[in-house]
Amino acid sequence: MSELSLNNVVKRFGALEIIHGANLEVKDGEFVVFVGPSGCGKSTLLRMIAGLEDISGGEINIGGKVVNDVEPADRGIAMVFQSYALYPHMTVEQNLSFGLRMNGNPKEDTEKRVQHAANILQINELMQRRPKQLSGGQRQRVAIGRAIVREPQVFLFDEPLSNLDAELRVQMRVEISRLHKQLGTTMIYVTHDQTEAMTLADKIVVLRAGNIEQVGAPLDLYDNPANQFVAGFVGSPKMNFLKAQVVETGAGTATIALAGEPNVRLTLPVATSVPKGAEVTLGVRPEHFSDAGQGDTDLTVTVDVAEHLGNTSYIYATTASAEPLIIERPESRTAGQRDTLTVGLSAKRSFLFDSTGKRLR
Ligand SMILES: Nc1ncnc2c1ncn2[C@@H]1O[C@H](COP(=O)(O)OP(=O)(O)OP(=O)(O)O)[C@@H](O)[C@H]1O
Ligand SMILES: [Mg+2]
Repeated sequence: MSELSLNNVVKRFGALEIIHGANLEVKDGEFVVFVGPSGCGKSTLLRMIAGLEDISGGEINIGGKVVNDVEPADRGIAMVFQSYALYPHMTVEQNLSFGLRMNGNPKEDTEKRVQHAANILQINELMQRRPKQLSGGQRQRVAIGRAIVREPQVFLFDEPLSNLDAELRVQMRVEISRLHKQLGTTMIYVTHDQTEAMTLADKIVVLRAGNIEQVGAPLDLYDNPANQFVAGFVGSPKMNFLKAQVVETGAGTATIALAGEPNVRLTLPVATSVPKGAEVTLGVRPEHFSDAGQGDTDLTVTVDVAEHLGNTSYIYATTASAEPLIIERPESRTAGQRDTLTVGLSAKRSFLFDSTGKRLR
């Protein structure tokens, strides 16, 4: 178990800078998830922590020790990859014990640790099989088992579930969560699945193009995204973004009108002043529309498609200015049966962003 910190960590591949000075504190025992779109640098950052990539600038600290020049094997970390990377010719048991045997770990202790990992992951029945005789989920369990037997200070996971089908992903997600509770070890987990991030993390790190955009507890990011990028990344279905214009300003407030809907107006608090006439974006989560008449103003949209999932319905619709949006109506099996739908919008459940995506409130 250990805390970990990144101080102004930079990564360059040749002349190209990929990570632009990352700062992060990870507490002992914390479960931290890196999320972000493909190519934003999640794996690179994780591989630098693991010691599989050199650090071009800054400092990585594990357990109070700078590890920039420490060999991967001596960092007290264990990494689990998307591709299981098991030895095909070895049994599960041999795969689990291999690293310890190579390090000359005493036989009895190795057996004890392998047994312990097998118990935790419930793979006792599979110990004599070879990887090709296992399902994807079982293989990933063995890969995680190989990390457990090393008794690392920090576990690193790089999209460990992305090769599994949807149902198994959910199951393994719960198992990883349970594993974290049971072991209490610091874990850093990379994914681009925002549901995995929301459900697993104590703390989410949102990355974009090599920059950390925001760090926070899952619900903090949901309630208080720092910018439009984070707002669009956290929450599912994604937040709707509607074009709007500032039509009035007050002391610490701005009144906006939706594009193509001059009468659909909302007055929102703003932290930074914004000039009248400014183009802005209103963010509304699909689940934050209310019934007509229940919000601060009503919005009527054209219904394109309605999906009824039983517990909830998703209405895919279009605004007067032809902007697409998704509206969620819990418990409704009839919403969206007509050609138009009127819903309520409220300032309290809306977000305002300037033209650069910065949060105004
Ligand atoms: N060895 C390398 N040489 C040059 N560029 C690299 C190298 N490895 C990665 N990159 C670049 O660094 C950037 C970040 O890559 P990285 O693999 O960290 O992304 P990622 O966030 O893990 O993406 P994904 O979700 O697709 O796995 C990408 O633009 C990638 O092309
Ligand atoms: Mg990656």
